[in-house]
Amino acid sequence: MSTPVKVAVTGAAGQICYSLLFRLASGALLGPDQPVELRLLEITPALKALEGVVMELDDCAFPTLAKVEIGDDPNKVFDGVNLAMLVGARPRTAGMERGDLLSANGAIFTAQGKALNAVAADDIKVLVTGNPANTNALIAMKNAPDIPTERFNALTRLDHNRAISQLAAKAGVPVTAVKQMTIWGNHSATQYPDVFNAEVNGQNAAALIDDQAWIENDFIPTVAKRGAAIIAARGSSSAASAANATIEHMRDWVLGSPAGDWISAAVPSDGSYGVPEGIISSFPVITSGGTWTIVQDLDVNDFSRARIDASVAELQDEAAAVTELGLI
Ligand code: NAD
Ligand code: LMR
Repeated sequence: MSTPVKVAVTGAAGQICYSLLFRLASGALLGPDQPVELRLLEITPALKALEGVVMELDDCAFPTLAKVEIGDDPNKVFDGVNLAMLVGARPRTAGMERGDLLSANGAIFTAQGKALNAVAADDIKVLVTGNPANTNALIAMKNAPDIPTERFNALTRLDHNRAISQLAAKAGVPVTAVKQMTIWGNHSATQYPDVFNAEVNGQNAAALIDDQAWIENDFIPTVAKRGAAIIAARGSSSAASAANATIEHMRDWVLGSPAGDWISAAVPSDGSYGVPEGIISSFPVITSGGTWTIVQDLDVNDFSRARIDASVAELQDEAAAVTELGLI
């Protein structure tokens, strides 16, 4: 077996991590031949509960779990880590919009960005799941000036998976028949799931569905408001599906995206598709050799343009708000 990859996870005693950590430890991220060392960060009052989670990890006797360390000091927990999954943040509850979380959660990501900058391994990749994910990733990135900006991503893979599932159900096909789905913009209710560039069994999805009313009044709102629907139904925000998406995003970033398809990931914009440089916005992305590239030259019709612009405007507002708060 090779040298363990050090994976930092924050919010490790929370509900997403109660699913995420067991899958990470079982080899779901890097496969059955790659041991992982887990570095788990929590706030001090949650360390006791985290000790219980570690007892359960021990009790699984996972062959790929080389070591677990826990702590409340990011400068120690992040020391030498190769991958960081920043999950820890206060989730929104019924009635809250993601904007309400900006000040509550922003400060977490200044401290963690600084700590990663100081002590992470040279090959660090940082994926932010904690909300508001895009803007938290921006805060971490801006507070880590020595880490290349392209090493900061935010999670829109859950939205991507939700969109695939809804489209497959409408088309009456298995999810494997749906390819080239794209989520554009923010991980929020303004996100834009794009069926115009998606395919179902190799055919253009929008043409195949041929139902603009469904796209506009059903598909887009269902995907964009799925997080709120789950909060309303479960009484707490999505957890197992968020853990699954976090693993899939990081796995594809490290090992490469599937041939003949692309994934959605929120990455620092290089100005592609008119999205202003610097903000962390979701795009269609291909990954290979540990790096990502934005898929170019997709057709953006007027309907799509207006929705992408609205979500990007929200991201710009969030960036302005955290600038005002002195977080970046
Ligand atoms: P949770 O409340 O169950 O767990 C969050 C954990 O983070 C808690 O244990 C808390 O103690 C910890 N935490 C708080 N501040 C911390 C800090 N400074 N350092 C380390 N840990 C800290 O929440 P959850 O359901 O696990 O959700 C976590 C986050 O993920 C929320 O912000 C939620 O909105 C977000 N989320 C994002 C997506 C997505 O698709 N991007 C999907 C679902 C949930
Ligand atoms: C989700 O999309 O499920 C999460 O971001 C939780 C939320 O607040 O919507």
